[in-house]
Amino acid sequence: MGTGWYPVALAEGLERGTSTGTRLFGRELVVWRDSADASHVWEDRCPHRGMRLSFGFVRDNHIACLYHGWQYDTSAQCRYIPAHPDLAVPATIRVATHPSVERFGIIWAYNELDSNAPQEFAFAECAPVTPVRSLYVDASAAKVFDALVLAECPPLKNDGGATQRSRTDALVSLKNGSDEILVAVQPLSDVETALHIVIAGPPDVYRGDIQKRVSAWGEALRREIEGTARHAGEVRHEVAP
Ligand code: FES
Repeated sequence: MGTGWYPVALAEGLERGTSTGTRLFGRELVVWRDSADASHVWEDRCPHRGMRLSFGFVRDNHIACLYHGWQYDTSAQCRYIPAHPDLAVPATIRVATHPSVERFGIIWAYNELDSNAPQEFAFAECAPVTPVRSLYVDASAAKVFDALVLAECPPLKNDGGATQRSRTDALVSLKNGSDEILVAVQPLSDVETALHIVIAGPPDVYRGDIQKRVSAWGEALRREIEGTARHAGEVRHEVAP
């Protein structure tokens, strides 16, 4: 398990006032967006009795647990307990959080709970981007990278040519002339990975047919990776004889 920045969701997919659950290296996370449009990535566990906060409700600047309604503000501090409305809630009741940031239309989390010294986010912003889709792949992140470092950038506005590839621990860039696709790699578990795909370029240029083409490219990549993983015996639901 690496320490560093990892993608957890496409920013466009998380509307104001909503939450979603995801995983990073097998640990459950809640990703939610408050009424001021800020996103948050926390451990998906209510400190009261462990209910998933991703099942809860976002209201204004807090998220409320589905089970007994405890409310947590954007700093993850519990501020209100419905069964004890007059109680000054102790400061010790808070949710464990991840530092998070939005870059390239993707929400990223630093893979260290309650880190008070988050590292600088490693990648320069390349605004604006056109979000394409998130894809879930039944294969390890290592297998995904094996495929991505050989993948061709599909033709977008250019007519093909040699693909230039670069990567970090969690991001692959496939470039063809002025066309560029970014694929952010989220290790969900040892054998499951999420890909978050965006086009480096403005939606008024890339939304529509080009976006659909990249989406189909991602789907084909997923099939190829899962085929390779199956061949190597790395399949999540395989049952031993
Ligand atoms: S488990 Fe969350 S409020 Fe009780």
